[in-house]
Amino acid sequence: MEWKILRGDITSCAVDAIVNAANTSLLGGGGVDGAIHRAAGPELLACCRTLGGCATGEAKLTPGFRLPARYVIHTPGPIWRGGNHGEDALLARCYQNCLALAAQHGCRTVAFPSISTGVYHFPLDRAAAIAAREIRAFGAHPGPVKTVITVCFDDRTFAAYQRAAKTPEA
Ligand code: APR
Repeated sequence: MEWKILRGDITSCAVDAIVNAANTSLLGGGGVDGAIHRAAGPELLACCRTLGGCATGEAKLTPGFRLPARYVIHTPGPIWRGGNHGEDALLARCYQNCLALAAQHGCRTVAFPSISTGVYHFPLDRAAAIAAREIRAFGAHPGPVKTVITVCFDDRTFAAYQRAAKTPEA
């Protein structure tokens, strides 16, 4: 399995699944959540209304509707509260659950944003290291997912994930 770091807008990714850094209501918001809902169109919100929300660290899948991606996998990341409230483990669970759900649906390509490092203020390098660890661990097992892409919306995020991708596994 290959992990690629790209600079760009996840809503333009023509992949099997894009991951949405959602909130627990799944009813949209700002940041990448807002961008995905705008690009997918109103059917996405209508579909999300039927899901009954999603707990932090869990993941739920919907169609992509007007997006070029076939599916959207919605996952609420943890809000940073200083690091002693299980934030690291919850962020790791976001990656584990999104990748497992993608594999269950036969996805070959999955694109992630930098979950929790925007409005939720999770420290960027710490989040990138967790993403690297979990994506590598997932890739060690055979399955349909062949390419994972982290799509970075700004240069600072792009640099952080490039560093994480170059850092050898602990
Ligand atoms: N493509 C890729 N990444 C994007 C895009 C986009 N179109 N728009 C924003 N991002 C990036 C941000 O720059 C940041 O690096 O996604 C990363 C995550 O930031 P947020 O979207 O703020 O997500 P998060 O920190 O997980 O906070 C989630 O914000 O939008 C609300 O409803 C959402 O309540 C939830 C909270």
